[in-house]
Amino acid sequence: MKMRIGVLSGGGDAPGINAVIRAVVRHGIKSYGFEMVGIKDGWGGLLSGSFMPLSLDSISGILPLGGSILGTSRTNPFIINNGPQIILKHIKKQRINAVVVIGGDDTLNVAYKIGDWGLKCVAVPKTIDNDLVGTDYTFGFNTAVAIATQALDRLHTTAEAHHRIMIIEVMGRNTGWIALQSGIAGGADVILIPEDPFDLEDVCKYIEQRKNRGKNFSLIVVAEGSKPKNGKEICYSACTDDFGNPRLGGVGYYLGREIEKKLNMETRVVTLGHLQRGGTPTAYDRILATRYGKAAIDLVNAQKFGLMVALKGKKITAVPLKTIVGKRKTVDLELYELAKIFFG
Ligand code: F6P
Repeated sequence: MKMRIGVLSGGGDAPGINAVIRAVVRHGIKSYGFEMVGIKDGWGGLLSGSFMPLSLDSISGILPLGGSILGTSRTNPFIINNGPQIILKHIKKQRINAVVVIGGDDTLNVAYKIGDWGLKCVAVPKTIDNDLVGTDYTFGFNTAVAIATQALDRLHTTAEAHHRIMIIEVMGRNTGWIALQSGIAGGADVILIPEDPFDLEDVCKYIEQRKNRGKNFSLIVVAEGSKPKNGKEICYSACTDDFGNPRLGGVGYYLGREIEKKLNMETRVVTLGHLQRGGTPTAYDRILATRYGKAAIDLVNAQKFGLMVALKGKKITAVPLKTIVGKRKTVDLELYELAKIFFG
C-alpha cells in the first residue's frame, strides 16, 4: 500500500512555505510514489479534520507565491481538551503515516511533544526571525532582510531631505536578526536588538555625534522586541497567542517620542510589520526551501522521524527535534560589534 504523507504549515507565515510544499509533494510523488495530503491551517487542521489532496497539479505554479496554499495558524493542540487524542483520531481516519511539519519554535515544539503520542514527524525550520537553533538559517529570513533593507534605502533619502530622525521598527520578537542584518546592509546609524537592552542616552549620543559632523538626519533600526535597560518590551495589545507570545509593537513610537523630547529634532516612525512576511520569496529562500523540502521527504522515506532538516554551512543535514525545542538562537554578537563601528 502507498505511504500517505501529510504536510502542514504552522505559526506565522514566511516567504518560501509554498516552495517547501512544492518540493515535498513533487519529490514525494515522483521519487517515492507517496500519496500526499495537505493539512489545512497548521495543527488546527488536525483538530478540525481539514485536509486537501495534494497532486502534482495542485502545486504547479506555487514556487514564487508568498503565504501558504495550506493556510497556517498558531493553534496549540496541547491547550485543548484531548487535543492529541483528536489529532491521532484524524490521522488514523486519513491513514496518514507521517507528517512533514513546516514551522518555527512553537509549531516544532508541538511536533516534538506529539512524537511521544506516536505521530511520526519530520520538521522544516521556518521563521523570518531566524531564531531556531540547530540550523544556520531558516527560510523566510533572507526575504525579510531584503525587504527591510529596501525600506531602509527608501527611508534614507526622505530622512536626509527632511533632516529627520527616521525610526524603522522591524520584526524580531526575541532576537534581532532582521534588525541587525538589514541595519548593516542599509547603513543604519543605530541598531537596537532584544539581546542588548538600550540606553536612550546612548541612542541620543549617536544622533548628536552625527549632528556634530554635519549630518542632520539619522536612521535607527529597532527590533520590535527591543526594550530599554531596566524596562519592558512594548506591546500594542494585551492579547497573547495560544503559546503565550505577546503581541509586540510600539517600541519605534516610544523611541520617536523620547528622542524628540530629548533632542528637539523631528522624528518619524515606520513599522514594517507584516510587509516583511508577505509576498514573494527571494531566490535564496526559494532554493533553501526547495532543499529543505527535498531533504524532509528523503528522511520520511528513510523512516527517520523526530528530526528537523537544517542548514550547516553549505550542507543540508538533520538534527533531533529534542535538541532544538525550547531554545533560541540569538544574534551573533561579533556581527553586532561590527555594526557598532558604524553607529553615530
Ligand atoms: O514569529 C515570527 C513573527 O513574525 C514575529 O517576528 C512577530 O512578532 C510575530 O510573528 C507576529 O505574529 P502575528 O502574525 O501573529 O502578528
